[in-house]
Amino acid sequence: MNPKLINLPKILDKRGNLSIIEEKQHIPFGIQRVYWIYDVPGGEYRGGHAFKENHELIVALSGSFDVVLHDGKEEKKYSLNRSYYGLYVPKMIWRSIENFSTNALALILASTDFSKEDYIRDFSSFQTLIK
Ligand code: TYD
Repeated sequence: MNPKLINLPKILDKRGNLSIIEEKQHIPFGIQRVYWIYDVPGGEYRGGHAFKENHELIVALSGSFDVVLHDGKEEKKYSLNRSYYGLYVPKMIWRSIENFSTNALALILASTDFSKEDYIRDFSSFQTLIK
């Protein structure tokens, strides 16, 4: 599967909005782990790696940031700034997250437990592996 922006359900109500993610219903994987990135100083970026097995969904719960994806051939930038959009990032996609706004909160749902061995942190190794 390719990276994909997923429009999550949004339930509007005069008391406010509510959005939902159910594994295997709205995203194409089971959720094994959840983490979030916050308090990112201006000008900093996160990521700069790919995963051999892990799939992820990235949501801008608050504020905004850009997710830059590279599949070994081309780069594509997704600007996330709505909490009802999730960016599905399959395994073996190089990704960086940058241009964080003040108070940005990135929620990340992951398909696997954390494993150092699952990371590819060198872009040229990634390009060799993807071939
Ligand atoms: P890293 O994945 O490199 O962060 P990012 O991709 O956002 O730049 O993780 C930063 C540190 O946190 C690294 O030492 C590994 C650790 N970490 C865990 O221990 N468990 C986790 O689930 C994650 C995502 C990271």
